[in-house]
Amino acid sequence: MSYLVWLVTGCSPGGFGECFVHSILARGDKVIATARNLEKIKHLGKAGAAVLQLDITDTQQNINNTISKAISVYGRIDVLVNNAAYVAIGTSEDLEADDFQAQFDTNVFGTIKVTRAALPHFRQRRAGTVVFIGSLSGWIGHPGVDAYAGSKHALEGIVESLHHETSHLGIRTLLIGPGRFRTLLLSSQNMKAAQTKVADYNDFSHALLTGLAKEDQRQPGNPVRLAEIVVDLVRREGLAQGREVPFRLPLGIDCFDEVQAKCEETLKLLEDWKDVLRSTDHNDQTK
Ligand SMILES: NC(=O)c1ccc[n+]([C@@H]2O[C@H](COP(=O)([O-])OP(=O)(O)OC[C@H]3O[C@@H](n4cnc5c(N)ncnc54)[C@H](OP(=O)(O)O)[C@@H]3O)[C@@H](O)[C@H]2O)c1
Repeated sequence: MSYLVWLVTGCSPGGFGECFVHSILARGDKVIATARNLEKIKHLGKAGAAVLQLDITDTQQNINNTISKAISVYGRIDVLVNNAAYVAIGTSEDLEADDFQAQFDTNVFGTIKVTRAALPHFRQRRAGTVVFIGSLSGWIGHPGVDAYAGSKHALEGIVESLHHETSHLGIRTLLIGPGRFRTLLLSSQNMKAAQTKVADYNDFSHALLTGLAKEDQRQPGNPVRLAEIVVDLVRREGLAQGREVPFRLPLGIDCFDEVQAKCEETLKLLEDWKDVLRSTDHNDQTK
């Protein structure tokens, strides 16, 4: 196979999706760039991508139809990149139940619908790679990011199961966990922030929203670099050449530090409470 055919969700300007498209085209691969608003990705069509409208919160049937249309563009899809998502900010008391639902509708259920639409194609061909853009928030729940962290933790669990149940079918799964990268994720047009209605959260909420506004466009991570790394991992070239590509990869210095701390903390917890957590079986179980 001379080139790979990719489909990327959420390719509007300024985000990882657009960076993926440029990296993919630069390697000589084909890409179907998708967005819910086609106007926003016209320029990617001019750059050489095929473009399709795809809102990942659409019905399963409509998403199935879009994926079928996408397959017909180049006769196949080799790599699906589940990138589209947004961040809802607010404490559990300040976000409405509908805000949680909407966050999961996009970040979890939408991602799963797109993946489910592509899986039969990958199974039939006994080939295909599904990339999921998770998050540091899929490892750690930071305060005020409850719905987003919940959605990314949920995605981690689903994707880990999917990985184990499809690898024998020739399907590769890659779960990327970025730290803080300079995209439009925290921009006022993309981030959905709930102001606090609870006096007890006033100071925290004010500090959080002010901090996020200050962080927008000052995040340390370079999204172009992340896209290059992911394309290397999928194509097993560049920095991935000669290395076993892991199923899950956190990316970013902040991510490294926080994930390492969480792993050490978890190992310490297991050791400190080993006697208790290993004491819950019926007596008829052999040790
Ligand atoms: N940047 C970071 O620091 C960071 C860290 C960890 C994880 N991530 C993850 O990286 C991925 C990309 O985010 P980003 O940082 O590139 O942010 P971004 O610049 O805000 O891009 C998000 C993209 O998702 C699209 N999108 C949102 N809802 C959609 C829907 N229902 N259907 C289709 N597209 C939809 C947006 O399209 P519209 O233009 O139509 O809104 C936009 O293109 C996300 O999964 C995010 O959770 C980012």
